[in-house]
Parts: sequence; C-alpha cells; structure tokens
Amino acid sequence: MVLKLLSRSPLASIPSSTASATHDINAGSLIPSLNRKSATWFYTTVVIVASLLVLEQAVYRYKKRHLPGASWTIPIIGKFADSVSPTLDKYKSQWNSGVLSAVSVFNIFIVMAADNQHARKILNSPTFTEPCLVHSAKQVLVFLNGRAHVEYRKGLNHLFTRRALSIYVAIQETIARQHIAEWLETAKDGKAQAIMMIARFLNMDTSLHVFCGNHLPDEAAREINDKYWLITQSLELVNFPLALPGTKVYKAIQARKAAMRWLELAAKRSKIAMAEGKEPKCMLDEWVTILADPNYKGRTEFSDREMAMVLLSFLFASQDAMSSGLIYAFQHLADHPEVMAKVREEQERVRQGNYETPLTLETLDQMPYLNAVVKESMRVKPPVVMVPYVATKAFPISDDYTVPAGSMVIPAFYDSLHDPSVYYEPDNFLPERWLDATGAANANPKNYLVFGSGPHRCIGIDYACMNIALVLATATAMMNWEHEITPQSEEVEIIATLFPKDGCRLKLSRNN
Ligand code: HEM
Repeated sequence: MVLKLLSRSPLASIPSSTASATHDINAGSLIPSLNRKSATWFYTTVVIVASLLVLEQAVYRYKKRHLPGASWTIPIIGKFADSVSPTLDKYKSQWNSGVLSAVSVFNIFIVMAADNQHARKILNSPTFTEPCLVHSAKQVLVFLNGRAHVEYRKGLNHLFTRRALSIYVAIQETIARQHIAEWLETAKDGKAQAIMMIARFLNMDTSLHVFCGNHLPDEAAREINDKYWLITQSLELVNFPLALPGTKVYKAIQARKAAMRWLELAAKRSKIAMAEGKEPKCMLDEWVTILADPNYKGRTEFSDREMAMVLLSFLFASQDAMSSGLIYAFQHLADHPEVMAKVREEQERVRQGNYETPLTLETLDQMPYLNAVVKESMRVKPPVVMVPYVATKAFPISDDYTVPAGSMVIPAFYDSLHDPSVYYEPDNFLPERWLDATGAANANPKNYLVFGSGPHRCIGIDYACMNIALVLATATAMMNWEHEITPQSEEVEIIATLFPKDGCRLKLSRNN
C-alpha cells in the first residue's frame, strides 16, 4: 500500500471529502505521503527562490555593467541597512568610488552621480529624468513634471517675488525675536543647550506664520511642529515599502492628515478675509489677491485643499533644509570668532546702533558680509546632499554608460560644493570668497548646487537665504553665543538633511 501511494501523485492519494475514501487509506501510509508532498513543495520552493536570487544578481550585474559598486547585492534588501542609518562618511566613500557608481536597495537599482557634470546632467534632462519622491513623500506631496510643472510653477513664483518677500520680512523678524527671547529665558542658568529642536521650532513657527498669518490658531503651530517631526523621521532614501500601522511611513501619513486639516482651515479663512477687502498679510493672502487680479493670466481656481497641499509641500521642502542651514550657520559663526566680529561690525554700521528699527529687504541688501556667511555656511555643510530622481526612459548619462529606464538616479552635491578648483581650501569656512566678484566661487555658479539646478531648482531660494540672514541679524542684535564643542560637534547626522550630531550646543547670553 505504501508503495502504491508513493507511486501516485500526492493529490490523487488523498481524496478530500468522502469518508469512504479515507477509509481506503492505511493510516500508517498517510505520513510518508504528506512528507513526500511537503518535500516536493519544499524543493520546488527552493528552486524558485534560488532562481529568483540568481536572477536578481544577474539583473543587478547587467544593469551595473562596469560601474563601481559591490559586485553582488545583498539578496532582496540590498543596501537597505545603509539607507536606514546613513552617514556622510558612507556617502562620501560611495561618491569617492567613482563619478558614477551603483547600488541596489530593495531591488531598486540606483546610480549615484558624484561630480558636477553628471549631477547637473541629471537635473537638467527633463525628457529623461524627473524627481523621484521617496515612498512616504509621494503620499505627502503633490509635485508635477513637464509642461504641467512649468505652468504650475509659474503661478507659484508670484509667492516669492520681492513684493511678496517684503510682506514676509516683518513676520519673520517678529517670530525670530519672540523665539530668541524665549531661548534667552531658558539659558538663564548659564548652561549650554542643544539648539537643534528649538531652531526647528523657530523655523516651523516662522514658516507657518509666513504662509498662513493669523489664519492659523496659536496651538496649530505647536501641533504641526510636533507631528511634522514624524514626517521628517520617515524620510529615508528608500523606505520600507508598506505603510503598515506602526511604521514610520504610517505615522508620517497620520501627521500629514493633521497638518492638512489646519492648512485647509487657513486657506478658507484667507479667502474670506481677502473677500472682505482686508490687506494681504501672509503668503496665502498674497496668493488669493493675485488670483483675484483681473490682469492675472493663469489658473484662478484653487480649492482650499489644493492650497493646503501646496503649503504642505513648501513646508516639507523648507523645514528640514532651512533648519539645517540655520543650525550650521550658528555653529560656524561661533567656531569662527573673526567672522562673527565682522558680522557684528557690519550690523553696527548698517543699523547704526538702532536695533529696534524693523529690518527690511533693503536693510538686508546692505549686509553683503552676512549674506556671504549664509552662502558659505551652506556650501561647507549643504543642507541637502543629494536629491533622488528617476530615469523615465533609458538615459545616456555618459559616453559609456546608459542608466536603465526605471532606475533611480541620484545627483550628489557635496563634491561640486567642495571642488578645490573652484573653492580654495574647500573644507574651510571662508565667507570672503563670495566678496570677490571675479573670484572662482562667483565665476562658477554652476558648482553651487545647494538649491539644485534646472526646472526643479528650489523655488524658495531668496526666501530661504533671506530668512537665515534675518535670524542671524536678529540673533546678533539680541545675544552672544558660544559653542560647547563636544566630540560629536563635527560628526554629521543625516535626518533628511545634515545636522551636527550633538544638536549644536550653544551657551547663550543677553547682548547688553
Ligand atoms: C536652506 C533652505 C533650502 C534648501 C537648501 C533647499 C534645497 C532644495 C533642493 C536641493 C531642491 C531640489 C532641486 C532640484 O531638484 O534641482 C529644492 C526644491 C524645492 N524647494 Fe527648496 N530648499 C530650501 C528652502 C526652501 C523653501 C523655504 C521653500 C518654500 C518656501 C522651498 C521650496 C521648494 C520647492 C517647492 C521645491 C521643488 C521645486 C520644483 O519641483 O519645481 N525650499 N529645494
């Protein structure tokens, strides 16, 4: 009987439903039959899995061709572990491995471009590439491409004109003053404190008030700030692909929902205020006013939800980058007293001791040294070291390599910004290089990739630079700060953007 059963197919050997049939089967023979069935499944599964793993390696090697990078990829996850806890040193060693190099994460084939020529080619080839938002961001943001993107962006450019920026300056200075006063209160004990989180809150509060003015209730800024941190933490180069409860992506989506509710409310209130003929006092008001202008050419209807989404995308694009830029600016100034002295000297000259007079765009224009400090600080420590793009079709990035369609292709900015042929002593913080109009730094603007390049170049450049300069101007007027240097001060933590690992510990004291 056992032999008989073994000679049958496993399915035929165990009729499923009839009692009589089961009676036909010798109980002792059932176990070998199941073992055989399991063994067949086991070996079939092993063969399938092994074939898939071999295929995975073959595809990786085929796509990689001669590019530097590991010859084999870790099965399935690839370099996922590295993308979960990225360090600047790991990225640097990847970029140093070649101007183009390859990695794979969760079977997403990635080509990294380290040098200026290839990085710019990725950013400026919209027929071959487009920004590739990480999984979580795709669910957080609405970004477009091609013609639709150009048209949409044209409309949004109105929110960053000089006229618009001049409305924002007063809000920015008021918020900066409030926050720095609070920093000084908590610094009364004379101890150093990490400014990482308080600077992030300053930025968030500023952005929300610039974007929404008084259309947001006070508690909203705190709630959005707290929840937004969850979005930031969810940003990895490649996330775990499913938004399951408890995952970072899931938490980010919940945070987005909370922020969206407040931003939609603000859009609604702004439309009502402008319809009542009130003065524009924030970005939303400016936007609603522009759309209502009979001379405005372009789309004039934006729902509250769409406006909220645009603001959320601004928040997303600016919060981490601006916080990084600001925190390193504080650190660089504290570490370079000779630069700090020149900033103070310029402030004194331009403001003539009258630090209560509100700052304006014109006053900030008269501070070239401070503006050079902002530019140089972000060159030395670029907030954003790379942006992920995707090749929408086979992309001939160089004479001897074509990026396969569907691959991620990532321009890195660090090498461009530390190129010794453009920036002498590239790792040193030397704002003076920007004061020489004919010097190499100013003669090679294409190397300054802090804000990207091409059709998706940052829309908020002027606003961002102005904001960092304004906070520093306000801070120098109100306080002194000393850096408590720790072994981690020079170590870089990457939480979407770059931060000093110790959070930048500053000892603050009142400036009078
Ligand atoms: C120091 C601060 C900032 C840095 C370093 C920064 C950097 C960048 C970079 C590298 C990109 C990608 C560019 C590319 O793909 O070529 C970008 C895009 C963008 N940034 Fe910024 N950014 C900053 C502040 C801001 C602010 C304040 C806003 C808005 C209020 C903003 C809004 C945007 C938007 C909307 C995009 C996408 C543009 C598009 O796709 O057309 N950014 N930014």
